[in-house]
Amino acid sequence: MRVPLAALLVLALPLTAAPAAASAVTAPPPVTLGSVIPAPVEVHPGGPDFRLTSGTVIAAPASALDVARRLAEALRPATGYALPIVAHAPGGTPVISLATGPVGARLGTEGYRLGVRRSEISLRANGNAGLFAGVQTLRQLLPAAIDASTPRHQRWTVPGGDIVDYPRFAYRGAMLDEARHFHSPDEIKRYLDEISRFKVNYLHLHLADDQGWRIQIDSWPRLAQVGGAPGTGVDGVGGGYLTKAQYRDLVRYAADRYITIVPEIDMPGHVNAAQVAYPELTCDGVAPPPRTDTDVGYSSLCIGKEITYRFVDDVLRELAAMTPGPYIHIGGDEAQATSPADYLTFERRVLPLVAKYGKTAYGWHDIAAAPAASAAIAQYWGLDTSNATLAAAVRRGTRVVMSPANLAYLDQKYNPETPIGLDWAGYIEVQTAYDWDPGTLLSDVPAKAVLGVEAPLWSETLRKMADIEFLAFPRLAAIAELGWSSSHDWASFRSRLGAYGPRWAEQGVNFYRSTQIDWAR
Ligand code: ACM
Repeated sequence: MRVPLAALLVLALPLTAAPAAASAVTAPPPVTLGSVIPAPVEVHPGGPDFRLTSGTVIAAPASALDVARRLAEALRPATGYALPIVAHAPGGTPVISLATGPVGARLGTEGYRLGVRRSEISLRANGNAGLFAGVQTLRQLLPAAIDASTPRHQRWTVPGGDIVDYPRFAYRGAMLDEARHFHSPDEIKRYLDEISRFKVNYLHLHLADDQGWRIQIDSWPRLAQVGGAPGTGVDGVGGGYLTKAQYRDLVRYAADRYITIVPEIDMPGHVNAAQVAYPELTCDGVAPPPRTDTDVGYSSLCIGKEITYRFVDDVLRELAAMTPGPYIHIGGDEAQATSPADYLTFERRVLPLVAKYGKTAYGWHDIAAAPAASAAIAQYWGLDTSNATLAAAVRRGTRVVMSPANLAYLDQKYNPETPIGLDWAGYIEVQTAYDWDPGTLLSDVPAKAVLGVEAPLWSETLRKMADIEFLAFPRLAAIAELGWSSSHDWASFRSRLGAYGPRWAEQGVNFYRSTQIDWAR
């Protein structure tokens, strides 16, 4: 049954100021069990639908209370239902039941089983990360209006059947560039919410570059005071930095969504902002001028000076102390102002410092040139389909995260008409972002060395949240599917993406309405 159009119009009226209101006027497409992004491993539709009502309860053990709360928070605004969280549902009560326990090794820590019956939705996983992933699937199985921020009076049905699901890759990342344009903690939180819907589990924060330094470091206070001053963004727009308290709050907020923060300090290049703050980090001791242009490859730490390694040690120690996640990203890209010999000297000394503070080193794939990178993770950002230096490092143990710039960089324009973004790696329309395989793209790197995939979003041309969203969506959803799903089917993705449009509209997400997609209205 559909709510009469007139009723929906009345409901939509108070919302006309919101950008999403118009899409609520026409009925969204029927939701099927398979209309989920990223595509689940197994989908078995059948049996009666579940109907969410004002009497529905959420049942969860104490150990899964946080996930149950996230689920309730997601469903309450649009339904207006209380959806109380209980330990056990009384007999006959319609229930969404969460439980953890052994559900099979193949499901791992992030897989889940979802069963939809007439009066019960059952979500089972080996642990809470799996339950959280299942919750994201369940949200997509409700009508698009479930993402409305105020109550909608309509039927809330979930199609009957079963889903068994688990990720292809352990690492499914996104990246924000805080250095070229500082995104506020609230903007980062909104992005965390948006990417968590697609089961992304890492957010990499690029925290320092030539223009700015965006994280408080107590032992070198001028890094943030000077490097994070107003006007330190590209073209002198914006500025700012994360205090340690804000960073820790973001780490917690991300963890509540089963996302791990990966902090990056880029070095030995991309360090102009640090050298403006501390001229002793240059070889001649003279402060360079601050730079807010978008040039790259001109700055380098002074490889022969001991103070360089005290600086790096201090920064890594403080960063590791506020980062519970396993990885510290040390950049390493575009070090054209560092000689190749100096680069190897630098990495030989710096890579072990990451391990000294209990973390695994992670860098752009340029670090593969350093023998010391064998225990590290290398993030491939090249345009080629083979890389002999990286392949050699992989044979010594290096693992790879795939972010090919011509396929996975969210800051590249969709086409020549795109109003923001760069184009040095080429145009990336939605199909281009989707139609590749992170496991086989590099012909000389075996799939088993690939830890996963990441979609970086550099911020030279970004100024506000709407800009982030315009470049990230829908392509982030494509990269997330490459990271999670074992299947790959453009026609299927295209159709599921078109059906997802009304959800972004309900959320007020400024997504790009690619002409490659038939967007539902
Ligand atoms: C990069 O795009 N320079 C990693």
